[in-house]
Formats: sequence, C-alpha cells, structure tokens
Amino acid sequence: MNSKMELGKVQVYFRGNFVPLEDANVNILTQALHYGTAIFEGIRGYWDADSEDLYFFRLREHYERMKRNCKLLKIKLPVGVNEMCDFSAELVQRNQFKQNVYVRPLAYKATRGIGVKLGAEDDFFIVTVPFGDYLDTHKGLSVCTSSWRRTEDNAIPCRGKISGGYVNCALAADEALASGFDEAVMLTESGHVSEGPGFNLFMVRNHKLITPGETENILEGITRDAIIRLAQEELHLTVEVRKIDRSELYVCDELFFCGTAAQIAPIASVDHRVVGNGQMGLITAELQKLYNAVVLNKFPKYSEWCTAAYRYQRAAVEA
Ligand SMILES: Cc1ncc(COP(=O)(O)O)c(C=O)c1O
Repeated sequence: MNSKMELGKVQVYFRGNFVPLEDANVNILTQALHYGTAIFEGIRGYWDADSEDLYFFRLREHYERMKRNCKLLKIKLPVGVNEMCDFSAELVQRNQFKQNVYVRPLAYKATRGIGVKLGAEDDFFIVTVPFGDYLDTHKGLSVCTSSWRRTEDNAIPCRGKISGGYVNCALAADEALASGFDEAVMLTESGHVSEGPGFNLFMVRNHKLITPGETENILEGITRDAIIRLAQEELHLTVEVRKIDRSELYVCDELFFCGTAAQIAPIASVDHRVVGNGQMGLITAELQKLYNAVVLNKFPKYSEWCTAAYRYQRAAVEA
C-alpha cells in the first residue's frame, strides 16, 4: 500500500456509504476547509499475527471523546458511537488490512459559502490507512521548547481535537524540525509545560511519574490515561498530575511523549541538555513493554481496551 493508485482504492466511510478514497471528495467552498471547523480523532489498530486479528486500542473511548468534543463546535454527528465502532471494523474487513492501521474519523462543518460562523450543515467520514511508527520509539528524541505557546482554552480549546487548532501544533513541529530537532515541547502562556504537538508528555523524577494536568491546555489523552493506570497498577508507581516547570525538563531522570500516533517515544535531550544518560530510561522501557503487550491484547486484564476488527462484536453498552 504505498503507491497513490493503491491508496485511492482504499474503501472509506463517506456520507453514509462505503466508497473508494478517490471518490470521497468535498466541495472547495466547504466551511471546514476554510476555517478549520472540524473535530477529528486518531485511533490505532494493531495487527496480531498470532491470533490473526487486528485490535483497535480503546476504540469506544475515542468515539465517545469525539462525540463529546462535537458539542464544542455544535456539530451533530449523523451516527452514534456504536455505529462508528461498527464502521471502523467494517472498513478493516472491507480493505482486508492485515497490518497496523490508523483510523481517522472527522466530523466537519459542511455548509458551503463564505462566512466565519458555525454553519448548520454537518458531515462525517472515516478513513483508515496502513500506518507504522510515527515517532522513533527507541533512539530517544531530541526536542526543543517551542517559541510557539500552546493555545489557551479561551482561544481554541486543546481538549477539543479541533482541526483549526492544529495550526498551533504544525507551527511548533515545523520550527523544531527547521532548527534541527526531532520534535517540540509546547509551554502554556504562563510558561509551564503543556504537551508536544500531537502527544502528551510524562517526566520521571525520583521514581515518580509526573504529567501536566488537564487544565494545562493539553488534549486529555487516552494513551495518557492508559499509562497512568499501567504505572499505578502494574509498576506500583506514584503518579503526580501537576504543573511542570520548563527547567524540570532539564534536570529530570526520564522523559517521554505518548499518544495514539506517538505510542511511547523516549526523549533523549531537551534544548541540548541530555535527559538522564541519554538512553531510554528504565521506567520508560517498562511502560513501553507493557503498552506494546496491552495493545496486542496479550494482557487479559486489559482486554476490554482491545476491540477485534475481524472477530468484531459490538460492545454491550448504550451509545
Ligand atoms: C495535541 C495532542 N495531544 C495528545 C495526543 C494524544 O492523545 P491520545 O492518546 O488520545 O491519542 C494527541 C493525539 O491524538 C494530540 O493530538
């Protein structure tokens, strides 16, 4: 699946039907294209050769977050959480994906015309594509603190996964790359650590796992939530959710990004200061090992987080 031609044939869910990607097109006057008025999600599916199935990680939680976030832009989803889960499994089956995939649902303001407002018409699609690692998960990333501050909740809420808000992330990521770093850490307007441009951040200091709180202009990450639980229940670590100073990044023992796309990606240096000994730290490595097993449904205690796409069964929960 690497030529444009093949990608065009991938079946997507668009306006109530399953159609090839090359036929799923929007009009150039669509409001969301001009003003970023859309809410999206990113979900990973992991192919497990042993059981010959593909497991979505926390599928339902992603669609539940999307449904909640649609309130921010007054978007009415045409389908419920159950249906969105069903369609995701159906897309894997229709495309016969037997590799890791990324699921990208997007709900957008579909009103056509000029005018900055939240138009009345909404639309929705799901596209699923083969997907490998997004960040290097072994070598340790070299990151900088960005000169771009994370957008404030009263400007564009970061918890919303609002398309337009990702301009803030793109500016930070582009600046980091252009300056020779792999990635950026974004600070809030008050100068505290927020997150990366697409990933939450964890720091280890004195054997404690520390991450910025939900009011630090972060996306309330589903991976972040999983890591907190794994750290507490499996590694018996103390987890602190609190403000992090920029300078703590320079003196901490371990640092890593996490997220659906990022998975668990260790950070080796910040602003040219080496983190720990410059290698992946022990706690990061333990968490990564656990996470990699959990997403492949190898850990029965957490199997409720994994949804099989081929042996798919709708969860017995009200949408
Ligand atoms: C800005 C931002 N922060 C954090 C995350 C990680 O969130 P999750 O673990 O829910 O994918 C993402 C990715 O979705 C993101 O876009």
